[in-house]
Amino acid sequence: LENDYSRYMDLKEGWVDRRIFWEQEIYEQELEQIFAKAWQFIAHDSMMPNPNDFYTTYMGEDGVIAARQKDGSVKVFLNSCTHRGNKICYADDGNTRNFTCNYHGWAFGTDGELKGLSNEHVYDEGDIDKSKWGLKQARVDSYKGLIFATFDEEAPSLEEFLGDFRWYLDIMLDQDDGGTEFIGGGIKNYINANWKFGVENFVGDAYHALWTHDSGFKAMNNNEGFPPADPTDSYHASMNGHGWEFGTEGLADIAILGQPKVLEYYEKMRPKMAERLGEMRSKIFGSLASVSLFPNCSFLPGIQTFRVWLPRGPHKFEMRMWTIVNKNMPDEIKQAINIGCMQTFNPAGVLEMDDGENWEGNTSVNKGVVTRRGKLHYGCGINRRIEHEELPGIVYASQFNDANQRQFYERWADLMNAKSWDQVPTRYTPRYAGKKTV
Ligand code: FES
Ligand code: FE
Repeated sequence: LENDYSRYMDLKEGWVDRRIFWEQEIYEQELEQIFAKAWQFIAHDSMMPNPNDFYTTYMGEDGVIAARQKDGSVKVFLNSCTHRGNKICYADDGNTRNFTCNYHGWAFGTDGELKGLSNEHVYDEGDIDKSKWGLKQARVDSYKGLIFATFDEEAPSLEEFLGDFRWYLDIMLDQDDGGTEFIGGGIKNYINANWKFGVENFVGDAYHALWTHDSGFKAMNNNEGFPPADPTDSYHASMNGHGWEFGTEGLADIAILGQPKVLEYYEKMRPKMAERLGEMRSKIFGSLASVSLFPNCSFLPGIQTFRVWLPRGPHKFEMRMWTIVNKNMPDEIKQAINIGCMQTFNPAGVLEMDDGENWEGNTSVNKGVVTRRGKLHYGCGINRRIEHEELPGIVYASQFNDANQRQFYERWADLMNAKSWDQVPTRYTPRYAGKKTV
């Protein structure tokens, strides 16, 4: 195996080495270099509105608990007892005063501090200083309702980590003054595939939709295929490994097939979006688009499915998905959007099923040693880079492109190689560094 991770790809020639989707050793390095370092999506604010609400999830293979504090802030800490290590919380979510470990009964507060020992009389005075045996805390920050965490003290701020991607995120998160929420509960699903196939599909693979989703799309749309995307009006944009591929014609998105009132509602919102976020972003709003946030969070604007790809070894991931809506939307519209998500991008949805099977195939073939020695082609649109007056980031013309995937793998290699954050190169010129994007 290579120890310079940029040798697993040549992004000028447009290929990526298949071993990054298979090798256990590379996966272990991802856990160290990406999941123990990068900011990761943990939960939406609306999932834990009240003090002592909690939600359990993973950062890499590290189980964590996120808990709302009395002062409204959120703490994220390891879900492992400091006594013998048992999980202190086996629930997915809930509300509690403390987490009491099953094994010997140590009790931790929702702030992660060790509050009490059961049968404390077995300890002599001086055996334990409880203030030193709390749960390991992550750094926590949020962007417009999305809570993120990292265990790396040296990591840049969340604002810097997101960079100019905030300009795009606002199209989803800042449509009005009410903010967003997740509705209808979350869904978990397991796929026997490498986690990166999910992320790269959402970061910029509009191409597969024309083929993989053709029959599903036609079945939902009176036998008509995807609307042709005009290459001069659609783009890939990426920065720091995050990517958004989109049209700019405000086309109806596919989830609202069968949900015409959602389309009508979006059209009513568009002029208000233009006032708030400017003409360009109002045109991106509602267009056929897909998005990933590095390393493992994705969503479909318009359709409103939102998910994380939690790695479970190199050949398996756990997908958690929700529907994201604006709090201020009428109930009827929220429900219609939710139904649209369930019919399309849900484990039982028309379009989601097509994808999972493909990603399992992409992954399992690499069990073959000869197969694994090969490369995969990532050269689509390799010469289409442009400078765009209004669109920040690394921009390529046309949403049918491998550009965002190439930038995603470049960022992946940058983090895999870096001994410290100073060694992680900035690959684009920020326009909004330290500035608000609305
Ligand atoms: Fe948790 Fe002993 S392992 S109390
Ligand atoms: Fe798909």
